[in-house]
Amino acid sequence: MRFSTKQIHAGVQPDPATGAILTPIYQSTTYVQDSVDRYLAKGYSYSRTANPTVRALEKKLATLEGGVDATCFSSGMAAIHAVLLAFLKAGDHAIVSDVAYGGTYRLCTKIVARFGVTFTFADTSNPDDVRRHLRDETRLILTETPANPTLKLTDIAAISDIARERGIPHAVDNTFLTPYYQRPLELGADLVIHSTTKYLDGHNATIGGAVVSRTPEQDEALRFVQNATGTIMSPQVAWLTLQGCKTLSVRMERQSANAMAIAEFLQSHPKVERVCYPGLPSFPQHELARRQATGFGAMVWFEVKGGVAAGKKLMDSVKLWSLAENLGSVESLVTHPVTMTHADVDEAERKRVGITDGLVRLSVGMEDVDDLIADLKQALDAV
Ligand SMILES: Cc1ncc(COP(=O)(O)O)c(C=O)c1O
Repeated sequence: MRFSTKQIHAGVQPDPATGAILTPIYQSTTYVQDSVDRYLAKGYSYSRTANPTVRALEKKLATLEGGVDATCFSSGMAAIHAVLLAFLKAGDHAIVSDVAYGGTYRLCTKIVARFGVTFTFADTSNPDDVRRHLRDETRLILTETPANPTLKLTDIAAISDIARERGIPHAVDNTFLTPYYQRPLELGADLVIHSTTKYLDGHNATIGGAVVSRTPEQDEALRFVQNATGTIMSPQVAWLTLQGCKTLSVRMERQSANAMAIAEFLQSHPKVERVCYPGLPSFPQHELARRQATGFGAMVWFEVKGGVAAGKKLMDSVKLWSLAENLGSVESLVTHPVTMTHADVDEAERKRVGITDGLVRLSVGMEDVDDLIADLKQALDAV
C-alpha cells in the first residue's frame, strides 16, 4: 500500500461492536476482566497503561514511519523525556543537536542533567563533530532535522552509521517533515520522535507526542516509561490526531508548495535581508535536503532589513498571519523565536547556533498562497 492509503487505513478498522467507521474515543479508565485466570485477555486493564483509541494511533504511526511499534505521549516534550529516561541513566552521556527546539535544550540542561546525565550539544550537521564528542559513556545521539528554527539539517544516515558502530541508539525528531517526506528508520535511525501537536494533528487542536521504535525491546522500554511516569496521550487527543493523519499528505504537499512560493517572494523583496528554506537552491544543504527527504516542508525563516525593530514591526503588521507559537497547522503562523519558542536558550548559545534576534519564523499554512503573499507584502512595505 502507498502512503496516502496507509495514512487513512493503517491501525484502524470498523468498530467490531457497531460498525462505526471511526475508532471510538474509549473514554474509560478501567476494563472489566473475564476472570483472574483470563486477566488481560482483551489486552487492556487501565487507561494509563494502554487505551484502545491511543493504540490505534500508535499502530498508524508505526506503519507510517516503518517501525515495529509506536508509543504515544501527552506532548512532544513527554515523548522526548521518555526517550531520555528509557535509554539513559546516571553517569551516561548523550549527544544532542546544538540547534533543536528550545524545550529540548531546557529539558536536557535544566532537568535531566540534575540526575547525573551529561549532554554535549554538537553540530550534528557535521559527522566529524559528532565523532569528536563521543565518549566511552555516550549512550544516545538525539538529532532534530530540519532543526527548529534554523532549519539546519543532519545527515541521518551518516549519524546513524556512527551510532551503529558504537551500538547506541540514534533518535531523530522528525516533527518538521513527518513520515510523508522523511522516514528516518529507512535511513538507519533507531527511534523517531514526533510532536504530534504539529503536522500530524495539523489543525491546532491538540498537544501530543509519539516515539516510533525500530525494535520491540526499544518499544517495550518506552512503554514502561509511559506507564511508570503516567504520560500516556489522552484518548480524545489520539482520536483527533487519528483524523488529522488521514489528510497528512495533502496538507504537506499544499503547505510545502505555499512555502516554496513564499520563500521565492521573500527572496525578491527589497526589504528582506535573507531567506532560508531547504527548497531554495541557495539553501546551504539543499543537496542533502533532496537526498534524504522527498519534500522540503512548510517552515521558512527570514530576516528583515532594519534588524529587530523592523522584524517586530512586520510581525505587528501582518493581518492574515497569526503571531503564535505553534507550527504545522493549516493556519499560517509567524513566530519570533528569540522571545517565544527559544527564550529559554542562553543568549550565547542562541548566537552560536544562528538564532539571531531578527529571525522571523513562518509556519506556512493551507490558505490561498496569493492571500498569504499579499499580507506579507503589505506588512513588509510598511516596515
Ligand atoms: C521539533 C520539535 N520537537 C518537539 C517539540 C515539543 O512538542 P510539544 O509542544 O508537543 O511538547 C516541538 C515544539 O515546538 C518542536 O518544534
